[in-house]
Amino acid sequence: MVVVAILAAGKGTRMKSNLPKVLHLLAGKSIVERVIDSVEPLSPSRKLVIVGYGSAKVKTALADISGLEFVEQTMQLGTGHAVQQLIPYLQGYTGDLLVLNGDVPLLSTETLQNLWQTHQENQNAATILSAKLSDPKGYGRVFCGEENIVQQIVEDKDCTAIQRQNQRINAGIYCFRWEKLAQVLPHLQANNAQGEYYITDAVAQVGQVMAIDVADEQEILGINDRLQLATAHEILQKRVKQKWMRLGVTLIDPSSITIDETVELQPDVIIEPQTHLRGQTLIQTGSRIGPGSLIENAQLGENVVVQYSVVTDSIVHAGTRIGPYAHLRGHAEVGNNCRIGNFVELKNAQLGDRTNAAHLSYLGDVTTGTQVNIGAGTITANYDGVKKHRTQIGDRTKTGSNSVLVAPITLGNDVYIAAGSTITEDVANDCLVIARSRQVVKPGWRMERV
Ligand code: UD1
Ligand code: CA
Repeated sequence: MVVVAILAAGKGTRMKSNLPKVLHLLAGKSIVERVIDSVEPLSPSRKLVIVGYGSAKVKTALADISGLEFVEQTMQLGTGHAVQQLIPYLQGYTGDLLVLNGDVPLLSTETLQNLWQTHQENQNAATILSAKLSDPKGYGRVFCGEENIVQQIVEDKDCTAIQRQNQRINAGIYCFRWEKLAQVLPHLQANNAQGEYYITDAVAQVGQVMAIDVADEQEILGINDRLQLATAHEILQKRVKQKWMRLGVTLIDPSSITIDETVELQPDVIIEPQTHLRGQTLIQTGSRIGPGSLIENAQLGENVVVQYSVVTDSIVHAGTRIGPYAHLRGHAEVGNNCRIGNFVELKNAQLGDRTNAAHLSYLGDVTTGTQVNIGAGTITANYDGVKKHRTQIGDRTKTGSNSVLVAPITLGNDVYIAAGSTITEDVANDCLVIARSRQVVKPGWRMERV
């Protein structure tokens, strides 16, 4: 049995941000959420999150995750002080406590399992995760004797010049035998460079402590500033992109593309440069997205083409071409084999199969049938200043260039709207509608006036 505690009370001064450090996003998910995700497969009996700086914000951000208990650390006097706050919560508990820094988001579950297993097999009082880094700057240094038995952890700021040369660092991930830790915790001292209570000091006092080096040092990157945030982002992106390329997706110029972990891609999808795929997005086989597109919370069917466009919260069915320079948003749904072209905006618009809106249109709150042709410059006037209204358009209807459809309005099937018309009344099937003043031509008009 294991209880997990996540330290997430620090401000994260080096981020220079109003947002608590652990809430900064990394490829669509907060740093602390990623830490929580990494422990879920261990099925911990309790998950305690220590919150302090910006605790209301942190709690709100994590409100949807089940089984979390929040422990307040009202003053942030160091990582040891943070763990001290657990004492009343773990009265009488005997078993292992996994302590994770809330700012180490790339840990794999295997690494944690390995740490816990080593801890149990050796009946250690504590087992810590370590790594040998070519650039150990900023991390606590781990000093071991024989057989990886830890003697001391010294913070970077407290190290002597010689100690600082030790490249073995503390990852900030620990497995403690709680009964042993509980005995030591009340006696921590804050006599160090930062005047803080360090959890790392407890390590030197609990009994037999072992360090194990992490297999992939990228996993233990701690996020303290925006540079490390960018490094973590890069590592995550590399992982995600490699996964999709192995599964048969072509990425052209991968370094210019970003893909959230929540995105699903099918084989033979091609992603072109400067394209960003976010949120709950699915792209089906044969589709070609980009260059220069943003796709967020969207479902794109097979063989869809999107160029230089933004598609959010929308569905595009098979064979449809979007762009260049189109904007789909607010639950737009475009049928099969449609064409949505230059400078067309769709908002909450449902377009039937083989419908085209090729140039310069705003279609908001519209439902169309199939094979509709929306002429260049057609606008749905859907807002009367108070409410939004719908426009219904039947099958095979064609709107002329520069038509304005004043909603609420219904156009039947096979309707033709003359160019430049402003339509304010419903139109039945098979009609031609002209709603503009007739052209008046006065021959010789200028000559009469001279
Ligand atoms: C810590 C370790 C260091 C290790 C490094 C790994 C200590 C003293 N040092 O240093 O040995 O190499 O992590 O990344 O533990 N926190 C609280 N309450 C506090 C202070 C911090 O909850 O009062 C939380 C922070 O929100 C953060 C985590 O603890 O998530 C680590 O704190 P941070 O200040 O970043 O420690 P480091 O200086 O990185
Ligand atoms: Ca840190």
